[in-house]
Amino acid sequence: MRIYDIILKKRNGYPNTKEELQALIEGYVKGDVPDYQVSAWLMAVYFNHMTAEERSDLTEVMLNSGEKIDLSHLKGVKVDKHSTGGVGDKVTLVLGPIIASLGLTFAKLSGRGLGHTGGTIDKLEAIPGFRTSLEKEEFFSIVNRVGMAVAGQTANVAPADKKLYALRDVTATVDEISLIASSIMSKKLAVGSDIIVLDVKTGSGAFMKTVEDARALAQAMLDIGKRHGRKISAVVSDMNQPLGTMVGNALEVKEAIETLKGNGPADLFELSRVIAERMVLLAGIADSAEAKSMVHEAVFSGKALKKFAEFVQAQGGDPKVIEEPESVLPKSRYEFEVRCPTEGYVKNIDAQEIGISAMILGAGREKKDDHIDPSVGIKVLKKIGDRVEKGEPIAVIYANDLDKYERAKERLLEAYEFSSIETLKPKLIYEVY
Ligand code: URA
Repeated sequence: MRIYDIILKKRNGYPNTKEELQALIEGYVKGDVPDYQVSAWLMAVYFNHMTAEERSDLTEVMLNSGEKIDLSHLKGVKVDKHSTGGVGDKVTLVLGPIIASLGLTFAKLSGRGLGHTGGTIDKLEAIPGFRTSLEKEEFFSIVNRVGMAVAGQTANVAPADKKLYALRDVTATVDEISLIASSIMSKKLAVGSDIIVLDVKTGSGAFMKTVEDARALAQAMLDIGKRHGRKISAVVSDMNQPLGTMVGNALEVKEAIETLKGNGPADLFELSRVIAERMVLLAGIADSAEAKSMVHEAVFSGKALKKFAEFVQAQGGDPKVIEEPESVLPKSRYEFEVRCPTEGYVKNIDAQEIGISAMILGAGREKKDDHIDPSVGIKVLKKIGDRVEKGEPIAVIYANDLDKYERAKERLLEAYEFSSIETLKPKLIYEVY
């Protein structure tokens, strides 16, 4: 099979067969197919897209390029969640303990943050002592004992995706729905969970800027999951402004704990609740009305918070973080209010810019190897639709460096748009599939 013919077929708008995708991708991973041929094929996919079958085949080829994490020997129904990435997205920290306290098994491999979006692993590592680098045996043993564990992704899951993603990044072919869907799903399917719930973000801080694109991505991933025999569900949720109020690692852990105590921001609780309910429903342990009250009860009885404490302790973290987050979590040297330059209503917040402001402070990485400062970040006091007076604080910046503070403040003020006309709050959840 000639690689030239595989590219030609895609260029002319015809689907590639599984054998062709295998020859191309496996050859690329081995080093037999050069970058320039795969680049040409990627660009052909960018313009001509893929059929549902092709996407599923591409996912399988990438999935089979690396290690698979077999969870079948673990107790209970194994559930997993994936977010396409956002600003202030600490849902995993709230959801995991809720789900595990309800008897489901949450064995999750998570990533680190890059660019304007944060990563769950960085957030957890803000807790003193917390270990995210676990050997498989220890990971499994914590899951069996506690009902949940979260560890960093191993290097061996879907290596074909890693290589392909790096090439997409430099050939302007990242933002094609089939390529994104197969990239995400090859990594999700490598972990053998029974149930997957996807949180596809849409808006200024998300990959998918429009709801239509987010719907299409959700449907593409649902289709791949179903073709691979998984129980799978998806929500399309808003990322036109940060989720909750805190952006930054220790700050987000604190907010997740507040939410598990029943005192968190309404949007964070609502999204975590909806995803948890989908998991309970797919697991078949309750109907829709029961699922809602089970999730509610898990939080308001304190069961989920207790589970979070067990989880933190099992992974080496200081469990005092639950009772005394202020004294346990790292704190920044400076704390400055950012005041509103005008009066009116918050019309818009560019979530990506808020994420970049937090990254400038040190809460995120510009490059893969950048060092994270767990103590810094932003508290968003005013969100879209809120009334503001001139001089009123709209945010708090937590910083360790005055120069970075000035740069972050400038970006933050640019992220806000005000209007004299009252503005509606955006919807939080656009779709539940
Ligand atoms: N995240 C991924 O893992 N892959 C993509 O292609 C885009 C976002």
